Amino acid sequence: MKIVDIINKKKHGFSLSEEEIKFFVDGVVQGDVADYQASALLMAICLKGFDFDETLYLTRAMRDSGVVMDYSHVDGIKVDKHSTGGVGDSTSFIIMPILASLGYKSVKMSGRGLGHTGGTIDKLDSIKGLSSSLSKEYIENQLNEIGFCIVGQTPDLCPADKILYALRDVTATVDNIALISASIMSKKLASAGDLIILDVKYGDGAFMKNFSDALSLAETMCAIGRREGVKTIAMITDMNEPLSKYVGNSLEIEGAIGVLKGDKNRLRDLSVALASNVVSECENIDYAEAFFKVCKVLDDGTAYEKFNQMIAHQGGDLSSLKVAPVVTEILAKEDGFVHKIHAEKLGELVCDLGGGRRKKEDVIDYTVGVINNVCVSLEVKKGDVLCKVYSNECLSDEIYEKFSSVFEVRRESLDKPRLIYAKINSVGEIILY
Ligand code: URA
Repeated sequence: MKIVDIINKKKHGFSLSEEEIKFFVDGVVQGDVADYQASALLMAICLKGFDFDETLYLTRAMRDSGVVMDYSHVDGIKVDKHSTGGVGDSTSFIIMPILASLGYKSVKMSGRGLGHTGGTIDKLDSIKGLSSSLSKEYIENQLNEIGFCIVGQTPDLCPADKILYALRDVTATVDNIALISASIMSKKLASAGDLIILDVKYGDGAFMKNFSDALSLAETMCAIGRREGVKTIAMITDMNEPLSKYVGNSLEIEGAIGVLKGDKNRLRDLSVALASNVVSECENIDYAEAFFKVCKVLDDGTAYEKFNQMIAHQGGDLSSLKVAPVVTEILAKEDGFVHKIHAEKLGELVCDLGGGRRKKEDVIDYTVGVINNVCVSLEVKKGDVLCKVYSNECLSDEIYEKFSSVFEVRRESLDKPRLIYAKINSVGEIILY
């Protein structure tokens, strides 16, 4: 087999066989396929398409390019949760303690953030002492004692995805549903869950800017999970405004703690919905019953206690959480209703303050971020505080204006936007909300 023939075949729009895709992926990992050849094939895939079987073969080859975790000897249902990435999204810190309180087990392997969406591990790194690099024995012990842990992805998990993702990032081949599905699902399938729940974000601040693409991504990933024998469900949820009021690493941990301590907001609503769908699927009970169980452990403080146990077991000291000292209020310039809070723009601005990475090697300032005072549809008066920006230096007029332009205020009132648009259950049925 020759890689140039495989590239040529895809260039002419033919489907690739499982052997050809495996040959490509193995060649990438072993260094037999050059970066320019891999990039040429990735672009041909984007231009000529990749059917479902090809996407499945790519997922399998990438999963098998490294270690596949096995926690089958740990008692309990193992759940894995993944979000396709958004702004102000810290649901993992709420869902996992909820599920652990109900006896589920989960090892969440997370990445670091790049660009406007924050990474779970970066948020955790804002807690002094916390280690997200744990041995298999330590993870198993924590699973048995507490029920969950959040760790960084190890280099031996899906090495093919690491190489291909880095190439996609610089060759304009990220936004392809087949490539995204294979990238995400290869890592999920290598992390050994009995059930995978996918939170597919759609909107301004997400990869998927329209609903039909988000649905198609969710359907493809769920179908891959089912074909590989793992229950996989998905929810398509809003990212037209930041999920929570808090954006920035340490601030998002504070936002999650707020919900664990009883705050009622969109972050809580989505976390509860995701967790309730897991419980409903796994225990074969109706949603209302699952919702009741989930709310109980959240409201009686059990989930908060689990969160604290996890932080302590991973060596973290929550009292070390710091927020940057300079606080700038961004004020409404006119009366009206908030029509938009541009999530991607806000994420980019927090990144510019030092809260995110432009390049892999950039060092993050965990303390900077934003607390929003408003949400879409809220009425504001001129001079009301739209958000507070936390930074280490005073904002220049130019940066102030940029933050101000995140908020679109208009005269007309509008309905509150929806949080959840659809879900896909474990047999692949689509339920529109
Ligand atoms: N997240 C991933 O892990 N892979 C993609 O391709 C896109 C988002």
